[in-house]
Amino acid sequence: MKIIFATSNQHKLKEVKSAAPAGFEIISLKEIGFEGDLPETHETIEENSLEKAEYLSNQSNTACFAEDTGLIIDAINGEPGVYSARYAGENASFDDNVNKVLQKMEGKGNRKARFKTVITYYSYKSFVQFEGVTEGAITTERIGDNGFGYDPIFIPDGSTKTYAQMTLDEKNLFSHRKKSFDLFANHLKLITV
Ligand code: IMP
Repeated sequence: MKIIFATSNQHKLKEVKSAAPAGFEIISLKEIGFEGDLPETHETIEENSLEKAEYLSNQSNTACFAEDTGLIIDAINGEPGVYSARYAGENASFDDNVNKVLQKMEGKGNRKARFKTVITYYSYKSFVQFEGVTEGAITTERIGDNGFGYDPIFIPDGSTKTYAQMTLDEKNLFSHRKKSFDLFANHLKLITV
């Protein structure tokens, strides 16, 4: 089964392709010739995920899925949350965002945080959502060079490594994105048998 993933984030594309079970082929926006930005205008991860999937499905006239992810940190009232991509400003880099988190977390004893991903599958004007959450802790400095975004400062519960110290296969053992994708893949298997 071929399915379009509405993302222009190449890191997410690589992760989802690595998590896809046999029989599922993930098609990127580049492969369907889509250029431009997907809208992301809401105040919740769920709404943004739906907005992206609905937009691309309407543009391409086909079923597709999108995801939205946020890092939620307890000691700073759930920030950066839905603003994870633009925490340090509209055109902020991954580095800028990580710096802002490290600075805001300076001296905080409670390091608890979680990543939350919501995948939306949009098909024939209806949709279904799948949530994946991974609990963990924020480090006091960057550790590791792999991955993207906040990976160098997040240690998932059950590991001693940050996501950025892990290979893709290791990250997939803990990953919020993989958890939501597994639920989605099970749904697709059920509706295609
Ligand atoms: P969005 O879902 O594209 O809005 O992504 C929000 C932001 O969260 C991204 O720009 C990344 O900085 C960050 N992010 C999303 N997923 C991950 C992840 O798996 N690891 C680290 N950071 C992530």
